[in-house]
Amino acid sequence: MKDFTYCAPTQVIFGKDTEKNIGRILKEKGAKKVLMQYGGGSIKRLGLYDTVVNAIKAEGIELYEVGGVQPNPHLKLVKECIELVRRENIDYLLAVGGGSAIDSTKATAVGVPYDGDVWDFYAGKAAPKAALPVGVILTIPAAGSEGSNSSVITNEDGLIKRGLSCDLTRPAFAIYNPELTYTLPAYQTAAGASDIMAHTMERYFTNEKDVDMTDRLCESILHTIIRNAPVAVADPTDYVARAEMMWASTVAHNDFLTAFRVGDWASHQLSHELSAQYDSTHGAALAVAFPAWMTYVYKHDVQRFCRFATEVMGVEMDHFHPEETALKGIAALRSFFKSIGMPTTLSELGVPDTELALLAKKVKKGADGTVGQFVKLTEADCLSIYNLMK
Ligand code: NZQ
Ligand code: ZN
Repeated sequence: MKDFTYCAPTQVIFGKDTEKNIGRILKEKGAKKVLMQYGGGSIKRLGLYDTVVNAIKAEGIELYEVGGVQPNPHLKLVKECIELVRRENIDYLLAVGGGSAIDSTKATAVGVPYDGDVWDFYAGKAAPKAALPVGVILTIPAAGSEGSNSSVITNEDGLIKRGLSCDLTRPAFAIYNPELTYTLPAYQTAAGASDIMAHTMERYFTNEKDVDMTDRLCESILHTIIRNAPVAVADPTDYVARAEMMWASTVAHNDFLTAFRVGDWASHQLSHELSAQYDSTHGAALAVAFPAWMTYVYKHDVQRFCRFATEVMGVEMDHFHPEETALKGIAALRSFFKSIGMPTTLSELGVPDTELALLAKKVKKGADGTVGQFVKLTEADCLSIYNLMK
């Protein structure tokens, strides 16, 4: 049981039509000039763009905008946004979209007051000391960036995808209207579900003992997704399923579940290489990577994998053959991902077998040359896990 500090100050504004209050909310926060970042156009098709622009302008707030933030957001656009914010003395940042728009906005927030290259933060060469405030209107439950202390950016130079974790990047507020997620394609709904599950499982597989409360909270989030993701995939306008997924997205990744524990995060690092090199959707890459990681490490703590199998995946415990129980749990997870339309092999992601050694080499490792906390993996281990994804 590990000591911890926890500070997740994001104001949550949840419910139908809440996005209509964005102008008033920004005004109350003291915003005078706002930069809004968004993605490739879904918010325009949704009608959300007009709602937000009109609500902000109605309050007399000056609005600037940068659209076209791509999934797995890139550094170049972040730098353009930093320049714009400096030039126009913008004082508040707003992300409208999912993890990509939010992460690009968070990177802008820490980049503006920094004299050096914002990539220094992602390369681990410097730590942010200040940030502009960030607000969010969430349109996809997935990355959890709306409540998390992290952001993930891809540097076009070398296609390197790296994360920055720092409490300064936690959003000041986040607005959630489940109806805004009705237009999500089934694939993005399912990828979001995989990511929420992955954030929970990264924390669930820990070496810390006596963490029963957070074990049960993790199991609850996993049950919530297993129950609601298929509903949302089958009926995109099911309000309750969309609402449950939206709140699970935040709770899975705002560190509420991290209390007393040390998360693993190797599966995320393995999946980041797939997204950086092949532009795989983050959640889809995790649906491939996580079961492969599990298969490679389950012998490290068979009992924990048995608990996952029985408490989460509904497998019956075979006390004479615990390893088989553990393996059945992993197989059940893979089947679940498949059932909601996720890929479970590298070939489905379009990743050629010939590149696996390079991927294993590029995976971000710590100073000791390993990645992961539950089991510390070397480059050779990473390669073995990529081979299990074939
Ligand atoms: O770009 P637009 O046109 O908006 O379309 C998006 C995009 O194609 C679409 N979409 C979003 N809301 C929609 C919608 N389409 C229709 N209706 C809606 N309501 O969905 C696609 C994916 O959007 P994106 O923002 O990329 O999704 P997600 O939230 O999964 O974010 C992925 C990024 O977050 C990072 C990932 O690595 C990836 O770069 N992550 C960020 C984390 C964090 N900051 O804490 C943690 C995560 O582990 C993750 O690494
Ligand atoms: Zn993730």
